[in-house]
Amino acid sequence: MSPRRFFVGGNWKMNGDKKSLGDLINTLNAAQLHPDTEVACGAPAIYLDFARSKLSSTIAVAAQNCYKVPKGAFTGEISPAMIKDCGVEWVILGHSERRHVFGESDELIGQKVAHALERGLGVIACVGEKLDEREAGITEKVVFEQTRVIADNVKDWSKVVLAYEPVWAIGTGKTASPQQAQEVHEKLRHWLKAKVSEEVADSVRIIYGGSVTGANCKELGSQGDVDGFLVGGASLKPEFVNIINARA
Ligand code: G3P
Repeated sequence: MSPRRFFVGGNWKMNGDKKSLGDLINTLNAAQLHPDTEVACGAPAIYLDFARSKLSSTIAVAAQNCYKVPKGAFTGEISPAMIKDCGVEWVILGHSERRHVFGESDELIGQKVAHALERGLGVIACVGEKLDEREAGITEKVVFEQTRVIADNVKDWSKVVLAYEPVWAIGTGKTASPQQAQEVHEKLRHWLKAKVSEEVADSVRIIYGGSVTGANCKELGSQGDVDGFLVGGASLKPEFVNIINARA
């Protein structure tokens, strides 16, 4: 089991409404959540304010995206300053849906990471290979390159959580095995040690995302380099509580 503080993020994606998210928030607020686990709920942009005002102050809120500059003529975008203005502490960047559905490049993701950190947000930075890349044996190459661009844009690693989300495991019900997750997390930590520093490699939380459920979270969370989860579908259900408490 890792010595780092466990971090569990929920990524609600483009799901829910005030009624269903309000019900979920009531469940989370009433639950006994492990006090040593850091929790952040990734709300749709339009519900950030709502989520922040309703969730207990012990649960953080995350935006699911932001833009790379403070303000201006960028219709449809939101800035880190606006996110902070809603009392929101985190932003998820580089999620595979941003990369592969919306065509965000490594370069753009790097710029967003730099700007979000400059403005004082914590960043959940996502990396992960597609199925054809895993099958071609280039998982490490892909994940290291995505991490390199993120790392080039980070000065303060204390505000960064790295999320390893193999694209083939997202929303598919096909979870990486605990061994597959551990293998990539361990390699990422070695990469951080070689390319950034031993201190960063030892302290950065590397969390796993991809079909995490109440049923598989304990085994995944018991791996030495798995420091938590980024949860999609199951974060919209009461079982999210069990995932948060996977280490309890
Ligand atoms: O960011 C979380 C994610 O993409 C995993 O989604 O639904 O497979 O848990 P899901």
